[in-house]
Amino acid sequence: MAFWKPGTEKPSFVEDEEGGIVLMSNNLSSSSSSSYGYANIEKQRQRLPVYKYMTEILYLVENHATTIIVGETGSGKTTQIPQFLKEAGWAEGGRVIACTQPRRLAVQSVSARVAEEMGVKLGDEVGYTIRFEDHTTSGVTSVKFLTDGVLIREMMEDPLLTKYSVIMVDEAHERSISTDILLGLLKKIQRRRPELRLIISSATIEAKAMFNFFNTSKKRQAPEGSTQGPKLEPAILSVEGRGFSVKIHYVEEPVSDYIRSVVSTILLINEREPPGDVLVFLTGQDDIETAIKLLAEEAHSNQKNSSGLLPLPLYSGLSRAEQELIFTPTPRGKRKVILSTNIAETSLTLEGVVYVIDSGFSKQKFYNPISDIESLVVAPISKASARQRSGRAGRVRPGKCYRLYTEDYFLKQMPGEGIPEMQRSNLVSTVIQLKALGIDNILGFDWPSPPSPQAMIRALEVLYSLQILDDDAKLTSPTGFQVAELPLDPMISKMILASNELGCSDEIITIAAVLSIQSVWVIARGVQKEQDEAKLRFAAAEGDHITFLNVYKGFLESKKSSQWCYKNFLNYQSMKKVVEIRDQLKRIARRLGITLKSCEGDIDAVRKAVTAGFFANACRLEPHSNGVFKTIRGSEEVYIHPSSVLFRVNPKWVVYQSIVSTERQYMRNVVTINPSWLTEAAPHFYQNRQNNMSL
Ligand code: CDP
Ligand code: MG
Repeated sequence: MAFWKPGTEKPSFVEDEEGGIVLMSNNLSSSSSSSYGYANIEKQRQRLPVYKYMTEILYLVENHATTIIVGETGSGKTTQIPQFLKEAGWAEGGRVIACTQPRRLAVQSVSARVAEEMGVKLGDEVGYTIRFEDHTTSGVTSVKFLTDGVLIREMMEDPLLTKYSVIMVDEAHERSISTDILLGLLKKIQRRRPELRLIISSATIEAKAMFNFFNTSKKRQAPEGSTQGPKLEPAILSVEGRGFSVKIHYVEEPVSDYIRSVVSTILLINEREPPGDVLVFLTGQDDIETAIKLLAEEAHSNQKNSSGLLPLPLYSGLSRAEQELIFTPTPRGKRKVILSTNIAETSLTLEGVVYVIDSGFSKQKFYNPISDIESLVVAPISKASARQRSGRAGRVRPGKCYRLYTEDYFLKQMPGEGIPEMQRSNLVSTVIQLKALGIDNILGFDWPSPPSPQAMIRALEVLYSLQILDDDAKLTSPTGFQVAELPLDPMISKMILASNELGCSDEIITIAAVLSIQSVWVIARGVQKEQDEAKLRFAAAEGDHITFLNVYKGFLESKKSSQWCYKNFLNYQSMKKVVEIRDQLKRIARRLGITLKSCEGDIDAVRKAVTAGFFANACRLEPHSNGVFKTIRGSEEVYIHPSSVLFRVNPKWVVYQSIVSTERQYMRNVVTINPSWLTEAAPHFYQNRQNNMSL
């Protein structure tokens, strides 16, 4: 396939309408309201499609243990239903209405919106909780937004979630791991707490599977003594969305570089189409930054084409201030171009979007239980996603969707539905969470979609080696219980616990905080050389983890200066986040009886602690190879990622934090180790691998 040439070729689109995609317009009169500050909030609420269903929703929730609600993004499910419930009295008597989201950004933006609509301060009656951030007031907050992961954690303290009267599991179609675990657990809780009501809401029509999962009416009698309890058979309600027709355009020929095609398509829209914002679906932060940069280059070389364009990135690592830009109304004479990951597919409502550009890809997690490698891969989306994406156009008037793939591909090759995350993930965290909740028979757990037994066995094996599970597959005391308590990747938790014994908890907590965010470096394209030089100022021969310690130290010495970050190609927002997370971890560590202690430069202690957590990710350099490493576990071929300070250094033995797959499998966040530490850290694990281990 030929490469797309910048500015020379433009994708040509076939105009065709795909029956199932076209959203019916209805007789909605004026344009959308929320861009106008003076519009009365109550009026806005009443205009939402879900408003007409208020009585019906309340009736169903009253009479059914579970209600499944399906409706277009933007129809008002997330912001309105919790308010309906509150107004109907479900929060009386100190009870709380919960609404879960798979994504943190959605939790924040939606709770802020609801607080505004209710005219209360966020954190009082309406609050939110995400990992590392709690904005609720006990005894005051009655409508609470939270990630599904946080709600699962709450079950450790309160297994039956007794303070909640209604739990709305939102965006259930995404089938994130946490959503699936939560659904399984809530089904169990319902049996013990018949008064609890569940609402499962989703943007796409997959209600049948959810119905079957929650339909226990055949197996179970109504709870004893309560002839009037809610019906066990779930109710399904479909909220008929409003929206205008969306015309679908496909490319005639497959595109070879979707980022360049995105940029040409934006310019094409700007040149030919009437005003209206553009929403672009790309795969991740790097894609998005590249596209913005290319667009800026175009603007520079061709004034006319890109005048009035206002490019804005949208991904989950974004700061509050950056988020706000996306939701503010488009200035007159401008055209917002929102370049987003699939976060804008359903979790967020973006007003003013008339044009959608769909790259056809998203970043997806894949796990191979044979090699035991979990990696993020850019992969084609499903038809369900494609439909959802095109539906983002046509919010304010008829819209257009440009698909950067052919119609033939869409019809014949694109998979219908995505695979639930549960079935393409490493299950280590899942197993710990369930064990901590006292669920011993994990294979027999009632999953919405069961994971593969192979993946389960792999997870059990790793947990056993980490000494988190004992011979009976029960959590060990204290290690297993401590790891379960930390809201972190179990390998990071184990590393923190080990650091206590090794006397380097101060350093390891900094490292843990850095490993918990995406990256401390800015994505600097075109200035790679300058960035590499900046990195060298911090680089440690032992690898990235030690480099992070230097970066953190520098940041503190600069008095947390944004200027200093800018000069050193560090992401200021990320660095502030690191400081924040570190404070949280410090508190949690203290609770676990870990006292902060610095090893005063004993780098071996730090590396040993990292090895204690990440020994399963050990790799050895192939002799006489040009940077080819083999994993000790599965003899998989891996390479050091170019962003690592060990790139091209290629030490003999390393452990890594994660793998990213592109054309190769790259290790991210790499540190050198001494192989003897592996057998020390995990004798069981490496016992049978002695052959592989020969030095
Ligand atoms: O959950 P669903 O996608 O059905 O809709 P929602 O998130 O409840 O949003 C309903 C409406 O609230 C949107 O159409 C927006 O007009 C408005 N909204 C907003 O203005 N700002 C937000 N942060 C969230 C929603
Ligand atoms: Mg929603």
